[in-house]
Amino acid sequence: MLKNTPHTYGIVAKLFHWLLFLMLLSSVVMGNLLAEMPKGAEKMQAAGMHKSFGAVLLVLIFLRLLWRLVNPQPRLPEGTTTRQAMLAKGMHLLLYLLMFGQPLSGILMSQASGVPVSFFGLFEFPVFMAQSPEVTELFRGMHGTVWILLVLASLGHIGAALHHHFIKKDNVLKQMTVGA
Ligand code: HEM
Ligand code: HEM
Repeated sequence: MLKNTPHTYGIVAKLFHWLLFLMLLSSVVMGNLLAEMPKGAEKMQAAGMHKSFGAVLLVLIFLRLLWRLVNPQPRLPEGTTTRQAMLAKGMHLLLYLLMFGQPLSGILMSQASGVPVSFFGLFEFPVFMAQSPEVTELFRGMHGTVWILLVLASLGHIGAALHHHFIKKDNVLKQMTVGA
């Protein structure tokens, strides 16, 4: 099934979830390697790849959110309290905010630095911001912080998924993997 049902996420939501998990993870690793590199031509090239990959991620996160908004969410397990339901919703909202915050802060940092960015060597992104070292530093700080929050929130989220599967023994993890 492509679309979600009241009992499980559909193929599209699962593909988005696991593809983005892998892409976000590799982007966090590549970003950290990039930040460690000494200034120079090699760093410029690696930054170009990281930025292009990040732009693809931003589009995918946006499409995932759209897909979520036009799909029903699977029903929560029986016995879920209103408080637990709100917590689950709040956590998903937080994950989306952080997922968007990371590439957006990267783009704003890059824009304010005045460095032209080529999308995998195919075309150059237009620059829509005035060059400013202060604004660059502001968004560099944000880009260096949001990913840590995203990792922490994801760890909490993974913990919750494992708790459902191994302790509560319900269908929550199956709904996002092999179907329930
Ligand atoms: C979801 C997508 C992205 C993730 C997960 C990500 C992750 C990271 C991480 C973890 C770092 C290291 C930060 C630090 O330790 O200071 C980093 C650095 C960097 N990112 Fe991203 N990034 C993403 C998207 C982008 C985008 C779209 C751009 C720009 C268009 C960008 C530009 C940069 C730059 C220029 C650095 C190096 C900063 C420095 O040298 O201090 N990133 N990224
Ligand atoms: C980068 C890391 C991750 C992020 C940002 C993330 C984000 C999300 C989001 C936003 C949802 C809500 C459904 C949607 O809008 O598509 C979700 C659902 C889910 N995720 Fe993740 N996820 C991550 C990693 C993982 C991992 C590693 C696991 C497994 C251990 C996992 C298990 C689940 C499960 C079981 C659901 C369904 C839970 C429910 O509907 O309440 N996630 N995830």
